[in-house]
Order: sequence, then structure tokens, then C-alpha cells
Amino acid sequence: MSMGTISAAYIAAAILFILSLAGLSNQESSKRGNWYGIIGMVIAVVATIMNESVDSYGWLILAAVIGGTIGARLAAKVEMTQMPELIAILHSFVGMAAVLVGFASYFDPASNLHGAAETIHNVEVYLGILIGAVTFTGSVVAFGKLNGKIGSKPLLLPMRHQLNIGAVVLWFIIGSWFLGTDHGEGTFPLILMTLIAFAFGVHMVMAIGGADMPVVISMLNSYSGWAAAATGFMLSNDLLIVVGALVGSSGAILSYIMCRAMNRNFVSVIMGGFGTASSTDDDGEEQGEAIAIQAEEVAQLMSDAGKVVIVPGYGMAVANAQHAVSDLTKQLRDKGVDVQFAIHPVAGRMPGHMNVLLAEANVPYDIVLEMDEINDELSDVDVVVVIGANDIVNPAALENPNSPIAGMPVLEVWNAKTVIVSKRSMATGYAGVENPLFFKDNTRMLFGDAKDSVDAIKSSL
Ligand code: TAP
Repeated sequence: MSMGTISAAYIAAAILFILSLAGLSNQESSKRGNWYGIIGMVIAVVATIMNESVDSYGWLILAAVIGGTIGARLAAKVEMTQMPELIAILHSFVGMAAVLVGFASYFDPASNLHGAAETIHNVEVYLGILIGAVTFTGSVVAFGKLNGKIGSKPLLLPMRHQLNIGAVVLWFIIGSWFLGTDHGEGTFPLILMTLIAFAFGVHMVMAIGGADMPVVISMLNSYSGWAAAATGFMLSNDLLIVVGALVGSSGAILSYIMCRAMNRNFVSVIMGGFGTASSTDDDGEEQGEAIAIQAEEVAQLMSDAGKVVIVPGYGMAVANAQHAVSDLTKQLRDKGVDVQFAIHPVAGRMPGHMNVLLAEANVPYDIVLEMDEINDELSDVDVVVVIGANDIVNPAALENPNSPIAGMPVLEVWNAKTVIVSKRSMATGYAGVENPLFFKDNTRMLFGDAKDSVDAIKSSL
């Protein structure tokens, strides 16, 4: 394929990726957005392997078959609730790829650069490996935290901020050492910087508490984008630079949105220590007793109600209850009950988790409202049904300044006339915080698996 054709294919792919991002920003256009992304990626891969500098297809096919088989098997068997950990481990691959490409590009015997061109290339190599190494270990730790292999409690080493600043200072010193070495003699400083970057990535994510993991996922997403962009510079591949920049900046914007949703300062999240088990939510008050309710009574309450709001959370995903919830919604709407959904920005375990599940179960988009759109109206609601949600409806976030989730905006469901909470026990949610909502006078607990409970309500209706 000629260079002109490859460039044209790259431009087409870049435009498709931009259209894909635009499509993914809205539920109605998200399927189309996905298709744009898939077509763009096929064009990008084909154009890249058609490049005349690729002269041996054997290795490429072998790598594609191995990678493709593992990827397809993983994608087929992954549960929706395991998606964030899958994303975290995929980010780590991007980071590792940047590290490997960086070293390969530094050792490339065919590279014949001198003077300023060599310095620029070495800066690209250095930055690419640095960002890639931080992304790699950071993502591996995030993977471990998300699937529970590593505790969500933050590891707060003494003088941790000084350690981080020390690492940054060392990178500058080692960087100028590396750039001062003669052609091909900078291997030692490069390896030294990589080891520090590996340790930095581990330390950075280990210090972040469970409650702030959503921000970490989107932040690592952004890092993986910048690592890909750096790889693009090393390989002089314009498309990789464009795509890396798109991922890097959209991940950064997402991190900002998540921080705003959780009322966190981005820098403080990165510095670690929030969502800590060391901070206490126990203000010594007696919580009282939670009152249980049966599915038949819930069905009665719902069919008598003029307005019902359903708040889905992580437990709905675990119980795979979205289809049952969708059927229940239809049943109620057929009876003339006004039903809406209230979605918290960090409900579940990944951005948009609840929207994806509800869309999968064909819940109409126009009755699915964001927290900001519905919070003020909850006092006019007869029955709020919380399905497998906990932290996102916890009044302690607003009322208890000592709570680890203090300041996080929550769905103020307790303002409704009656609140039904469907969950299996009195256990805490992701942030490990007690929830005073369960003990309020207008709250009733519907104990059991969310799917079984919703099925029972449906049959009573
Ligand atoms: P959580 O606070 O984690 O609460 C989920 C509740 O679901 C649990 O208390 C659990 O109680 C219940 N549950 C689990 N399995 C169930 C089942 N089969 N049937 C019924 N209930 C079940 O969830 P949330 O309210 O959605 O809040 C999300 C939390 O995750 C936030 O703290 C957020 O910061 C964090 N987080 C979010 C993200 C993103 S990006 N969304 C990423 C990482 C972390 P029982 O055990 O008693 O049933």
C-alpha cells in the first residue's frame, strides 16, 4: 500500500474514532458509536500492517491469533460486574506495550539518528517508557484492588508525599544523564528510571482508598492514552498519536467529571488517603432498628402510588435483576403509575454501569434521569425503591463530616414518602460505611437477592 493510501486510511480511521466518541456520549447513539470505533480500528490495523516496513507477516499473524483468542475468550466470559477489572488489566497492557516499544525503539539497530533528531527521539523514548511503566504497575494494582485480591484500604507509607516528590526529582536527574549519554549507551539510566516508575505506579494506586477507585480507573484510562500517544511519537505513527491523545484527554475529562460527582479534588485523590478505613464514620449514635417488609406489601405500596422512583446500584448488577426491573416498570406503567429511574454518576462499578444495564433491558431512555435532574423532585415521590444500592443513597455523606464519603453528592431518597431498600442483609457497600438510611422512620428493608425480590413483587402485582 502506498504511503498516500495509508495516510488517507489513517485520516479516515481518526475521523471514525472521533465520531465514535461523539456517539458514545449518548445512550441512543452509543451502538452507532461502537460501530464507528470497530470500523475505524479495522481500517487502522489493516493500514498499519500494509505498511511497506512490515516485511514478515508470520510473527504478526501468530501474535494476532494468540492475542485475539485470549481477548475473545475473556470478552465472552466476563461478567458485567467484572468489567472495571478487565478494563484495568487492559490498561496495563497498553502501559507494558509502551515500555517494550520504548526499549525496542531505543535499541533499534536500523535507527540512524544524529544530533537534534536523536535527542528528540530519546526524549520520546524516555517519556514513553516512564508513562507506560507507571500505567502498567498502577493498572495491575487497580486490577487487584477491584477484584478484591488486594485490600481496598489505602497504604499510607510515612513520608509518602516526599517519596513521590523524590521520584519526580530523580526522573529529572536520570533524564538529563540519559540524554547526555552517547548513542546506545543509555541503557542503565533507562532501566533505572523504569524501575522507579514501576515502584511509583504501585505506590500511587496503593495509596488510594476504595471510595476513590472510580477516579483511579478513569485516570489510568487517561494515562494509557498518553502512553499510546508517546508510542506513536516513537514509531512516527500519526494515527497512534491522535488516538492516544483522544483517549488521554477523554480519560482526563472523565476523571474530572467523576471527581465533581464525588465532590473530590483531583489532586487530593491522586495524593491518596481518601476513602480510608482509618477515617471514622462512627459518631457514636445508636442507629435504632431497621424495619423489614415483605414483597406483597411493597407491591401494594407501588400500585397505590402515583409516582415511583427506582434507584439501581451495584447489587442490581450482581443479581442480574435489570430485566426483572424492566418488566416491573412496564407492569406499573400499564397500571398508570408514573415510574422514573434515578442514576447516580458512580452507581455500580464503572462509569455508566447502570445506564448500560437498563439499556440492555430496554428501559425507555426518557424515564432514566441523572442525579442532578431528579434530586430536588424526590420529595414529591410516593415510593422510592432502592435496588442493590448503598453508598449512593447514604445520608451520612451529607450529615456526617467524619464519614469517609463526606461531601459526596448522593441521591436524597429519604425525602420521599416511603423508601424501600432491596438488599440481602445489613452489610455495607463498596466504601464500607454504615448507612443511616436503613434506620429512618420512612424506610423499609426488603431482604433477599434483588432479582428474587423484584420477581416476588411482580407476581404479587
Ligand atoms: P454499593 O455501595 O457497593 O452497595 C451495593 C449493595 O448491593 C451492597 O450493600 C449489597 O448489600 C447489595 N447487593 C449485593 N449483591 C446483591 C444482590 N444479589 N441482591 C441485592 N443486593 C445486593 O453500590 P452503589 O450504591 O452502587 O455505590 C457504588 C460504590 O462503588 C460507590 O462507593 C462508588 O464510589 C464505588 N465505585 C464506583 C465505581 C464506578 S465508576 N461506578 C467504580 C469503583 C467503585 P448486601 O450484601 O446486603 O446484599
